Amino acid sequence: MLRKRLSAIMAALLLLSSAGCVQQKDDEVKTVGLAMPSKALERWNRDGEYLKQVFESEGYNVELKYSDNNIDQQINDLQVLIADDVDVLIVAAVDGATLFRTLEDAKIKNIPVIAYDRLILNTDTVDCYISFDNFKVGELQAQFILDSLSPDTSDRPLNIELVSGDTADNNARFFYNGFMSVMEPYLESGRFVIPSNKITFEQTATPQWSTVKAYENMQNTLASYYAGGTPLDAVHCASDCLTVGVTQAIASDYTGKTPVVTGQDGDIAALRDIVEGQQSMTIYKNVRDEANVTVEVAKAILEEEDIDEELIEEFEVPCAFDTDSYDNGVKKVPSYLLTPNVITLENLDLLTEIGPYEWDEDHRYLVEK
Ligand code: GAL
Repeated sequence: MLRKRLSAIMAALLLLSSAGCVQQKDDEVKTVGLAMPSKALERWNRDGEYLKQVFESEGYNVELKYSDNNIDQQINDLQVLIADDVDVLIVAAVDGATLFRTLEDAKIKNIPVIAYDRLILNTDTVDCYISFDNFKVGELQAQFILDSLSPDTSDRPLNIELVSGDTADNNARFFYNGFMSVMEPYLESGRFVIPSNKITFEQTATPQWSTVKAYENMQNTLASYYAGGTPLDAVHCASDCLTVGVTQAIASDYTGKTPVVTGQDGDIAALRDIVEGQQSMTIYKNVRDEANVTVEVAKAILEEEDIDEELIEEFEVPCAFDTDSYDNGVKKVPSYLLTPNVITLENLDLLTEIGPYEWDEDHRYLVEK
């Protein structure tokens, strides 16, 4: 409230001081530069379009770029946005470690930068990070597997395989670490075993979060370690784009009981697989909330307000302000972290309330609204 009153007073002062002058750039419609990683993965389409909508509804111009999951393309996109003199840059990085040089140009032009969903590394040219609690995502996935399979009372050690995300995406390591923080004691005690022996983040990573690669890797794992009838009890997939490949490989190359398989994002294909029983859960991260928080933060930055805990009052969604967890190698980036939801067959309907979904005519599958 106080913040709002202060900005109203500041706006009034600004108006008085500029009376009679040529109109300042501050009074013009501001332009937001949005750089999203790829159109190929469902979630980034949703994020890009929704961010565009909310910013436009707040009276901003929007320049939206998708970079085809290609680092050079994203660098090029950012150069264009910077050359176009956007007022703020919102970037979901293809590779968080490759943008620091390009962002120097944003710094020279005083363009603030918000790292959206994925952290940007090795630069002080990032004002703020907006995401979900990525460590928590991994913890929730691991806890789901434990709750589903009760390893402590099982009459044999349980077999699990890990399918992690892209090493170029800072989030992927957080998902893995969160997962391991819960699962490690069970791997150490032998209640869970990884027959393929692929256990480190690097060994389990999937370049570019590729569904095809996840499918091929799973096929190889099944052929090499499960062909003789070894049961596969669980697969930790970090995200739905991987899960969809993994469940296809399981459907075609594995004849045992369907394993517990995790996911993240609420992709339409994954939600269908949950109904069909091929996928066990997904983590839904409310893209609307993430976009709404981003708009509030961008407004605050453009109005030169402080980026701090107090801003959360404007969000109306559960959110933590974290100044410690996201060290990008140069600075600890102040972060607003939203809370993810666990979605299973039992609470699929919740997505019609909190996400852009509705039931199809037969009330069997969720479809995009
Ligand atoms: C992550 C993101 C996840 C998932 C993944 C693949 O950075 O946080 O929600 O979408 O990328 O795109």
